[in-house]
Amino acid sequence: MPSIQISYDLVSQADLSAQEWALIRAAELATTTAYAPYSNFWVGTALLLENGEIVQGSNQENAAYPSGLCAERVAFFKAGSGFPNVRIVQMAVVAKRANENHFLPVASCGACRQVMLEYEYKQKAPIKVLFRATAEKYYRLPNVACLLPFQFTAESL
Ligand code: THU
Repeated sequence: MPSIQISYDLVSQADLSAQEWALIRAAELATTTAYAPYSNFWVGTALLLENGEIVQGSNQENAAYPSGLCAERVAFFKAGSGFPNVRIVQMAVVAKRANENHFLPVASCGACRQVMLEYEYKQKAPIKVLFRATAEKYYRLPNVACLLPFQFTAESL
């Protein structure tokens, strides 16, 4: 039977470049701007652009629950509208509960992966991904496409 494999690293802080660590710290900082009074689950995302700019996003909830938006999409739409022609090189995502101090393992939801894929497709260059894993470790993935096999893109239309 055919199968699909994805490659990733599981890295500790010591294995991260200074730039990657700065990106994770920016994602951690972004959690403090979450507006999440319903879930009390704070998510932070930071995007490194090719011009060195870091774009942060946090989840923004709404009393009409589906009207809210995940941190990743807030960050990607912020980058897409503020820096439409600047490539996104890497992204980091972390999460924490409002009443706790430690960060939690997190991976982007399916809807966010679809949006992330659109931007990767648009820029024709990979966006590296860092997700908080367990025990001070991070998953590092080479691109968004590997997170979403059997893709729906512009080529599907
Ligand atoms: N959330 C994100 O911000 N990113 C994800 O990838 C998963 C979920 C947010 C949405 C909602 O505000 C809260 O986490 C609980 O689902």
